[in-house]
Amino acid sequence: MSQSSDAVRPEVTRLAPYNAGLTVAELMARYAPARIAKLGSNENPIGPSPRVAPAVAAAVAAMRIYPDPASRDLRRALAEHAGIAAERIMIGNGSEDLLAIVARATLRPGDRVVTLYPSFPLHEDYATMMGATVERVAVRPDLTVDVDALVAALATPCRMLIFANPMNPVGCWLTGAELGRVLAAVSPETLVVVDEAYAEYAAGPDYPSAATMLEGASHPWAVLRTFSKAYGLAGLRVGWGIFGEAPLRDLIDRVRTPFNVNAVAQAAAVVALADDTHLAEVVAGTLAERTRVGEALARLGVTVAPSKANFLFFDCGGDATAFAEALLARGVIVKPWKQPGYRHFARVSIGAPEENDQFLEAMAELVGAPG
Ligand SMILES: Cc1ncc(COP(=O)(O)O)c(C=O)c1O
Repeated sequence: MSQSSDAVRPEVTRLAPYNAGLTVAELMARYAPARIAKLGSNENPIGPSPRVAPAVAAAVAAMRIYPDPASRDLRRALAEHAGIAAERIMIGNGSEDLLAIVARATLRPGDRVVTLYPSFPLHEDYATMMGATVERVAVRPDLTVDVDALVAALATPCRMLIFANPMNPVGCWLTGAELGRVLAAVSPETLVVVDEAYAEYAAGPDYPSAATMLEGASHPWAVLRTFSKAYGLAGLRVGWGIFGEAPLRDLIDRVRTPFNVNAVAQAAAVVALADDTHLAEVVAGTLAERTRVGEALARLGVTVAPSKANFLFFDCGGDATAFAEALLARGVIVKPWKQPGYRHFARVSIGAPEENDQFLEAMAELVGAPG
């Protein structure tokens, strides 16, 4: 054992470094491409509401003051938006902060955590960090959620059920009927965490609001949302969680760092939330481009998973890391998946039309012209 690995808890040595993908600066240093399409992190190419910049400037002017540790204005605005009492809402430094907070507050060593697979790695990592054991329920071969397997996994009670709907990285989703089947199989002691980071893109008749379905459930629950995706505030770090009841939120809140959300982020989120028109434009533009990119990939003979999110999960036909490197050389950043069983898949975000064109041109070069 080295001095370093002795210094940290054994659970920490079991964590893989986060696969954050290349930054533009790293790509420039490596290949100096003439054009860059940054499609590795599911960011919103249009950006936030134009109302955000003035709100940010005003908040910056007051930066010597600590932020409101309870994010009261934002929680009030979200309460009105979601029709849920502000006492049941918690704000995080991104929803990843809330994932960590919930794990810290609830998981004991040896607990069993059930999740969908391939997964958003932090769903597993924070559980592992707390000494819990993660049980993965893999998607079906057609890259849809295996609801029967998930229900079967819940037959043995677990401390936590956590998954994203739509799922990241696959993009597939549970319909209302499917989510209903899963929730009916949950034991009273299981904390259900539904991560709805991509909910704005998925909204529609066959996509359920987990908070609406969970309301009144006899087991504890939380639904997590974020301003990083459709609201275009990834760089400011704001997420929010709705909890089944205020006492659960209050207990979990004790492990939150008091000033976790900075004042600029709080102010930006309040105004971003109020601009429904901008949000609708972002979502409509993304969905149109997702259809276009998906159809173009299919014409190239590439297998693409069904997606309700702002990304597509596709089969590279071989090692995804090498494939992604070839895309990098063409100025395109995607995320090669690193989890076992899916290392021939990569995830590409839906970007601006010209970025998507650049990606499709590079794909045509790599997999061959349409036949
Ligand atoms: C499913 C899912 N949950 C949570 C997050 C974290 O988002 P943030 O911390 O930016 O709110 C992401 C980011 O990619 C995600 O894909």
